[in-house]
Amino acid sequence: MSTVRFSRFGFILAAVGSAVGLGNIWKFPYVTGEYGGGAFVLVYLITALFIGIFVLIAELLIGKLGQSDAVSMFENLATKKKNLWKYAGFMVIVPLIILSYYSVVIGWIFHYIVVSFQSLPSNIEESKNIFMTLLTSDLQTQFMYHTIVFVLVTSIILNGVKDGIERINKILMPLLALILSILFIYSLSVESFSKAVTFMFNPDFTKLSSEAIIVAIGQAFYTLSLGMGIIITYAASLPKHVNIVKSSLIIAVIDTLVAIIAGLIIFTLLFDKGAESTKGAGLVFISLPSVFYEFGSIGTFLAILFFIAIAFAGITSAISMLEPMVSFFVNRFNYTRLKAALICSLFFYILGIAALLSNITDYSPMLMIGSKNLFDWLDFVASTVLVPLGGILVVVFVGHFMDENKINAELIPLLGKTITKVWFFMVRYIIPIALILVILNETGIFKF
Ligand code: PFF
Repeated sequence: MSTVRFSRFGFILAAVGSAVGLGNIWKFPYVTGEYGGGAFVLVYLITALFIGIFVLIAELLIGKLGQSDAVSMFENLATKKKNLWKYAGFMVIVPLIILSYYSVVIGWIFHYIVVSFQSLPSNIEESKNIFMTLLTSDLQTQFMYHTIVFVLVTSIILNGVKDGIERINKILMPLLALILSILFIYSLSVESFSKAVTFMFNPDFTKLSSEAIIVAIGQAFYTLSLGMGIIITYAASLPKHVNIVKSSLIIAVIDTLVAIIAGLIIFTLLFDKGAESTKGAGLVFISLPSVFYEFGSIGTFLAILFFIAIAFAGITSAISMLEPMVSFFVNRFNYTRLKAALICSLFFYILGIAALLSNITDYSPMLMIGSKNLFDWLDFVASTVLVPLGGILVVVFVGHFMDENKINAELIPLLGKTITKVWFFMVRYIIPIALILVILNETGIFKF
């Protein structure tokens, strides 16, 4: 493994940078809307903070004890069945699959920064039109922005852990915090802020379906970048003497806070203008732009800030998706970082082009597989099936196949004996079962 390591602060920033992404600012508010607000938020908080922190600790442990790339770490740390466990490390392909369409969505956000500067849609119909035109017929624009994201993330990842990943996170994350603070302070001054608070924190349990619970667990994994070898890989470059429990807490709390703050900002603005659509993926790209318009010139300013914030959040997550595979190639095959980065980036870039073509009307018939197009398939397979599956592999591995004494030596000084036992129990039994339920539900094999 390369000897270049994160600084302690750099590591936390990079892990938070990976966790805080489109999942927090784009997806969390719309699933909250879809699953009825407060009750969903409560379940999400419980799962993110309990399951999330427990699995974060597990992934940090693998990285800290393994000190290599994800594939080698599973192989080296397994106390039995090493030959089989090395295949678990191939979960590092999952973030590359996610990145293919994630990059296209970051491209849409770039487009919306430009739209906000030029002119926002004056009503919801116009807004829908702008988005649907971009999505289904504007191949050039999507291709251009996807290419820009490709060049951007490749050039950052080329510079390595410290000069690439850590440095960009040190620039973008404070800016993201600043922008979100400005937007949040503004929304505090808007009357409907209290409505947004009620919507998000006043749980109406009649609205809580068992499906919502399952979705909340899936969202917690996605948003914390778990089950994909990312945190494991970053943790292998952890500086010595880092408290992994404290780090997990900080990462999960900040990630959750960002999701809540983004939700409060978005719902305040929507409710203030009586906007209806609090549901669906169109929330950020269709409902919000026309709401920003209604706020007049301050709205334009808010829109620009908002889309820049999501772009920053998206880029720091995108970088983290490349690193596990790059680190694998560098470590295992002695590739130069340039060669490794180019291979991984070209993979997501080309797959991303196919994904964006599958939304374009002229090409979509060719890229339909059954009921979904390629774009939706990639999202479905990667984030709803493979991410929980990766999560299962991590907890089963740490719980049943790693040296218990080594884990105890790390955790007992930090957690004490009793909580370490609770952690083992959760990791061995409860979390794998919860994740199996997530997969059964998401694939429709067994609907709750
Ligand atoms: N955690 C990121 C988010 O919430 O947007 C999503 C993500 C990051 C997914 C990294 C996958 C990944 F590899």
